[in-house]
Amino acid sequence: MNILVTGGAGFIGSHTLIELYKAGHTALVVDNLYNSNPEALRRVAEIIGVPEIPFIKADIRDREALEDIFSAHRFDACIHFAGLKAVGESVAKPLEYYENNMNGTFVLLDVMRHHGCKNIIFSSSATVYGDPAIIPITEECPKGQCTNPYGQTKSMLEQVMIDLQKADPEWNLVLLRYFNPIGAHPSGRIGENPNGIPNNLMPYITQVAVGKRERLGVFGNDYPTPDGTGVRDYIHVVDLASAHVAALKAIERKQGLAIYNIGTGHGYSVLEVVNAFIRVNKVDIPYQIMPRRAGDIAICYCNPEKAVKELGWKAQFGIDEMCRDAWNWQKNNPNGY
Ligand code: NAD
Ligand code: UD1
Repeated sequence: MNILVTGGAGFIGSHTLIELYKAGHTALVVDNLYNSNPEALRRVAEIIGVPEIPFIKADIRDREALEDIFSAHRFDACIHFAGLKAVGESVAKPLEYYENNMNGTFVLLDVMRHHGCKNIIFSSSATVYGDPAIIPITEECPKGQCTNPYGQTKSMLEQVMIDLQKADPEWNLVLLRYFNPIGAHPSGRIGENPNGIPNNLMPYITQVAVGKRERLGVFGNDYPTPDGTGVRDYIHVVDLASAHVAALKAIERKQGLAIYNIGTGHGYSVLEVVNAFIRVNKVDIPYQIMPRRAGDIAICYCNPEKAVKELGWKAQFGIDEMCRDAWNWQKNNPNGY
């Protein structure tokens, strides 16, 4: 298939391009480079062994640009990664987050419809479950209250797409609810490249390991978990990337609406991740227990059986590979791209 990949220069998009090409698909990336570097696409091309990845620098809110792209190319489906994703920043800049994520998706869906391309895979998040009612989380678990504008955009956009598909059953729509993607391509050439102080656990750990930060703050050790620290379902970004290739099968089958949890089904605590990182990479990670972070929940991990059964997709990598590859990327690229 020929796939339009919005936000394809970003962390998950760049890894997904490799899996798409490996599976025989082709892609065109549209990204405004707000949170990414074109060097990522150059390195993706190098890993795949093609001269370049077709890329157009454009904002998906720019209707004219998208119209031109759809007029010049034929796409079988779109994988829609483009969006703003920093939880804390979304609390400080709600209007910017709602505007970018909602409007961008509205324009994209409208232009797709106009050009008869009604197949889309959307990057959703475990955040839509709020403080989950059931552990492990199945897709039937009711959606919960999101504590921040970023999460709200994911939850609302899911609803927008569900309503769209109901009104026009020609749409094939796959909502992938990602758990916690970490790690990097094993080559160490591409990886996560956060701006400023990392908000998420693994990039913070790797920056401590490389000497950019003094110590990790562990946000709370009084949660009702075995060691008191928060438990999450970390998934290797290469596994997450391959889930998109598998999700194209749901599109090919013209499945209508499909929703999948994309995680490993295993929960690891913050201290388990820190200790795995130390053991696998033989580096020290000084840490300090801090107060809980506002908006955090105790435990979040999924039951991934639906994706296993319907898509034939299953995560292949464990926490050791996640720690190894995250460190391989960081130590080879201490300042990112
Ligand atoms: P990322 O920031 O690395 O990638 C997103 C890309 O979208 C960036 O390259 C950015 O420049 C681009 N972009 C943003 N707004 C745009 C616009 N209006 N027009 C064109 N391009 C635009 O993020 P990521 O980690 O690769 O995440 C990809 C998607 O997955 C996002 O939608 C994110 O919300 C979602 N998601 C991520 C995680 C995670 O932990 N990384 C978890 C759940 C869901
Ligand atoms: C965060 C987002 C969530 C998003 C997800 C994607 C918040 C509140 N939620 O989830 O919306 O979908 O990323 O991956 O930001 N931790 C520390 N010290 C740190 C950083 C994190 O102890 O410096 C702990 C957290 O308290 C948590 C765990 O590590 O228990 C994972 O945190 P993080 O990587 O930020 O992911 P989530 O909070 O699960």
